[in-house]
Amino acid sequence: MQDDVVSVTRAHLFGTWRKQRGWTPLNAVKGEGCYVLDASGRSILDFSSMLVCVNLGYSNRAIAEAVASQIGTLPYVIPSMTTVVKAEVARLLKEVLPEGLEKFFFSTSGTDAVEAAIKIARLKTGRPKILSRYFSYHGSTSGSIAASGEVRRWFVEHFGKAGDVVFAPPPYCYRCPFKLKYPECGIACVEVIDHIIKNEFGIAGIIFEPVVGTNGVIVPPEGYMERLQEIARENDVLLIDDEVMTGWFRTGKWFAVEHWGVKPDILVTAKGLTSAYVPLALTAVSREIAEHFEDNFFAHGHTYEAHPVGLAAAKAAIQEYRRLRIWENVERVGRYLGRRLRELEERHRSVGEVRGIGMFWAIDLTRDRNTREPFSVYADKYAGNSTMAERLAAEALKRGVYLLGYVNNLVIAPPLIATEADVDRGVDVLDEVLRVSDQEARG
Ligand SMILES: Cc1ncc(COP(=O)(O)O)c(C=O)c1O
Repeated sequence: MQDDVVSVTRAHLFGTWRKQRGWTPLNAVKGEGCYVLDASGRSILDFSSMLVCVNLGYSNRAIAEAVASQIGTLPYVIPSMTTVVKAEVARLLKEVLPEGLEKFFFSTSGTDAVEAAIKIARLKTGRPKILSRYFSYHGSTSGSIAASGEVRRWFVEHFGKAGDVVFAPPPYCYRCPFKLKYPECGIACVEVIDHIIKNEFGIAGIIFEPVVGTNGVIVPPEGYMERLQEIARENDVLLIDDEVMTGWFRTGKWFAVEHWGVKPDILVTAKGLTSAYVPLALTAVSREIAEHFEDNFFAHGHTYEAHPVGLAAAKAAIQEYRRLRIWENVERVGRYLGRRLRELEERHRSVGEVRGIGMFWAIDLTRDRNTREPFSVYADKYAGNSTMAERLAAEALKRGVYLLGYVNNLVIAPPLIATEADVDRGVDVLDEVLRVSDQEARG
């Protein structure tokens, strides 16, 4: 039967973002805390919260019960009607979102929420273009993939540019595209954004991940985010904050922009909003944007907008973050995780840089520490070759630890309830698998 589950899946479902050949999905049967049991009874530590989304781990009773109760009471209503849970979640969001975000649109994925944000920015400003950054991911459908500054966009650009988006370089100090050093660089990567906006026609908004996620957990240097906000205000361009991954205490705060006191015009989030128990996403906008639509058409919607079951999960998750005072665990265990990962930097020559914040870390691999040459680049992924990060993630899984490996980075982001003992187990396995990349490193 178990083999059958894998073979039926393999025959009839697509494995995402990959060539289908070689895909052997792991058959997961149960989740408990930070662990997933597979069909053979093996316990696997989830060291990346799957896709950086299962923030509260796998056995949160409060969310499970809230979902069951909502399904039993009222599973669905048309978006034009309201329910108690809509008002409750709206009130909670007003309490926890960065100041100034007043009006909400709910959808079911980070992608949908970004699509809504882009459309809202265009409708509000009457301008067509979005400014995004390389080394970013914002979603898989036409508007959101066009704004994604990485290889997954390349696959839709076979026939021309994906959308009305211009790209700036990311604040990636380890491999600075300008070959400069912080702080003498004067944060050239943010100044160039000012230059681009002043020389392009019709930029509606800047979309950014405050801490870059899948593409390497890039934490901006001090001064970057503050200056980005200034540039947006000076040029009358909207700030679209993509917190699909960074929201809900992943970085230690409700939302990552709080680290720098930035107040976005639009904030997008999903994943940890329900701890991934039910699909739900949010696009939150400022009062000024909300008011624009009082007398202008809000030209957007979905059948599942503000789905009551998703909202019930969100309400329970927000209450759980508070009840557990999850920020305290992120602060303590996150600091420990960072320290243990930095030990790996000393022990393995294929570790170029360890960086992160809160419970959100990456190991950026290097073939050569002197030149900082990566093992794998986007072109390898585009060609369908197995990248070094994916190879190491596969090795870790054999040893009972699930890890997200993307192109040249391992993303380490355990559920926010993880303990020091969970961290030790994950780091010990990393210590073993990094020998594979060490063997292929020089210097
Ligand atoms: C920053 C960011 N934005 C948008 C998305 C798209 O979200 P989803 O996969 O839920 O559509 C992701 C997904 O990982 C993300 O990390």
